This record gives sequence, C-alpha cells and structure tokens, in this order.
Amino acid sequence: MRFDIITVLPGLLESPFAHSILQRAQHKGLVEIHVHNLRDYATNKHKSVDDYPYGGGSGMVMQIEPFAACIEKLQAERSYDEVIYMTPDGETLNQEIANALSSVENVIILCGHYKGIDQRIRDVFVTREISIGDYVLSGGELPAAIVVDAVVRLIPGVLSDETSALSDSFQDGLLDAPIYTRPAEWRSHRVPEVLLSGHEAKIAAWRHEQQLKRTEDRRPDLLND
Ligand code: ADE
Repeated sequence: MRFDIITVLPGLLESPFAHSILQRAQHKGLVEIHVHNLRDYATNKHKSVDDYPYGGGSGMVMQIEPFAACIEKLQAERSYDEVIYMTPDGETLNQEIANALSSVENVIILCGHYKGIDQRIRDVFVTREISIGDYVLSGGELPAAIVVDAVVRLIPGVLSDETSALSDSFQDGLLDAPIYTRPAEWRSHRVPEVLLSGHEAKIAAWRHEQQLKRTEDRRPDLLND
C-alpha cells in the first residue's frame, strides 16, 4: 500500500512514521509513505500557497493550483483509490473506515491549514473527507498520521502476531477486556484468578463478559447500533 501525503509542514510528519510498527512495515516493503511539500508546487516567487477568502472573513484559504499540480503529477504516475481530505467536518474516523482503507492500494491525503482549502479542490479531487473527532486541530498533519497508523497496522503481515489486530478494541464491535502481566500480585492487587487457571474456555468466557461490561459502562452507543 502507498500513501502520498501533501502538506505545508512536511517536518511534522518526519517522526510519526519513523518508529516501531510503521517503520517496520516500511522496511518490510508492505507500505510506502511519501510526504510532499506543497510549497514545491507554489506558482509564485514567494512560494505562498494561501490567499484571502472571497467574500471576506478571517483567516486565509489554501489555493487550488499548488494542490492541483501536486495531485495531478501523482495521478499521472499511478492511479489512486482515494484522495482523502483531513477536515473536522468530514466523517468521523472509526475502525470500519480503517478496515476499508487497509484493502486499497494507493491513497493521497491532503492536509489543510489556516481556514482550510478552496472548496473546488474538494469538489474536483477529493473522494473522501475524514475527521478524527469533534475538535479542531491547527492542521491536518496529525490527523493524517492517525489515519495512516490506524490503517497500516491492519495490512496483513504488518503485525507479527496476525491475530492481534483482530482482537483490537472495536474489531468485534466491543471494547477490549482488561489485560494483565506479571507479577500476579502487586501491592495486594491480584490478577483475576481465572487468568491464572490455564482454562482456555473459562478465560475466553471471562474476557467476553468483561468486554460486554466495559462496553455497557463506557460506550453503550456501540451496543445499540
Ligand atoms: N484538521 C483540523 N482538525 C481536524 C480534525 N479534527 N480531524 C481531521 N482534520 C482536522
């Protein structure tokens, strides 16, 4: 799978992909992540990529031409399944969206700044608009990194234990059960006996019961869907 991320702040995306699972996935050749500096596609000598909004109002608007030039250059090189715009007014990211994206080949992600991007970029190029939640960040870079992380860990072969993405919270519509490791007792807090019993069926039943309880307590909305 290949991601092309277009941003005015490429430096913000240097670190998130250079560690742990995301780094290993790239080293294994399972994913390519390319970050493009939008300013390289600016058409004026000041390399500016924004301008005042028509109709007035506060804040600047990111212009069409640099995005169009970068997207069209990429699209001339290969075909893309999705052009995603990260925006607080998009559909809220969830596990279902991450699952769907993990089975496509090539994705472009546009990161907005200032007031956002000219609506015509959205109308002409964007196939999907994603928010990471009902709050506003200063740009789309951190949201883009979150989408990439959520998707890449689902690509077969990325996680060493193939079953571990399947047992994530949300994959079966429920939150995860509590988990424990050694020591079995810490300051009088003991690990639930059933987990020490070695009885697989009882452990599975206990975990399912805990998942239901935690989901009822914390996210009853997940049970009502
Ligand atoms: N850009 C700014 N805030 C955002 C959010 N909540 N989700 C996606 N992109 C954003």
